Amino acid sequence: MFQPLYRPRRLRLNENIRRMVRETKLSPDDFIYPMFVCHGKSVKKEISSMPGNYQQSIDNLVKDCEEVKDLGIPAVILFGIPEHKDEVGSEGYSDEGIVQHAIKAIKNKMPDLTVITDVCLCEYTSHGHCGVIKNGTVENDTTLELLAKEALSHAKAGADMVAPSDMMDGRVGAIRETLDEHGYFDVPIMAYAAKYASAFYGPFREAAESTPQFGDRRSYQMDPPNSREAMREVALDIEEGADIVMVKPALAYLDIIYQVKQQFNLPVAAYNVSGEYSIIKAAAKMGWIDGERAMMESLVSIKRAGADMILTYFAKEAAKVLQKT
Ligand code: PBG
Repeated sequence: MFQPLYRPRRLRLNENIRRMVRETKLSPDDFIYPMFVCHGKSVKKEISSMPGNYQQSIDNLVKDCEEVKDLGIPAVILFGIPEHKDEVGSEGYSDEGIVQHAIKAIKNKMPDLTVITDVCLCEYTSHGHCGVIKNGTVENDTTLELLAKEALSHAKAGADMVAPSDMMDGRVGAIRETLDEHGYFDVPIMAYAAKYASAFYGPFREAAESTPQFGDRRSYQMDPPNSREAMREVALDIEEGADIVMVKPALAYLDIIYQVKQQFNLPVAAYNVSGEYSIIKAAAKMGWIDGERAMMESLVSIKRAGADMILTYFAKEAAKVLQKT
């Protein structure tokens, strides 16, 4: 009877050996925690499709940030829910906007927690699109000015990093130029470089109240079947001055994360988006999968594919699991 000379099972014999040969390890250092901030006091409203995530007023947001920091997570990314929406998303770039106030409150209490801001207009526009509408479509170049204004107002409020997620052409360059003109040379740009028009953003739109009122985002976000185009998008953002490039979503796009990591030498971020979170939560609730194991397995797969950092709604929960082990 054939007896194999090589027996890979030898190195899977027990947990100690498995730990010794493990190639990829997660750490709280890998995570960036997305948070939703709204107006008001003592507000903590659970997002029904994203159990464990909330729309919070600044008082509760700051408390939550303390927990994030205590868990060893280095950074949060903020999304704002404005009081009023209008055609041009004014609250997005107002110095009195909700995100601008939240940045100040967090930095005031926790100067060493890194605060990243999402730079986009969709949460602030009445029509829910990521820019200014002209003739039924999002007009690229007028939108650039507003995005640059938004990024600048975040930097002025004390943001450590800005992350444009709108997918307009030229926005990284426009933002870099504006930040530099005002002396914010040291504020890095994390560009949502390869962002696809994905069904997996569904729950986020409930969380951020940003569902487009007409049409969809397919004229600015990428078409899911394309990967060479993603490399072009990443290359453009790097030319324009991006410091970190992001692939979004993560799990259905692990091949894109892998290729970006191989082809470029900048840090790579991956956004484990709302739908990816909700699917695991829902299946676990039904008793169909082990939610904790599915969470850790998907996070490690994103890191194994090449992500240097992972934006994830699981950040706190996963950090707690890592503390136990
Ligand atoms: C804003 C933005 C979106 C997400 C991050 N920034 C929504 C969208 O493009 O529709 C999605 C995040 C998630 O699903 O977790 N443009």
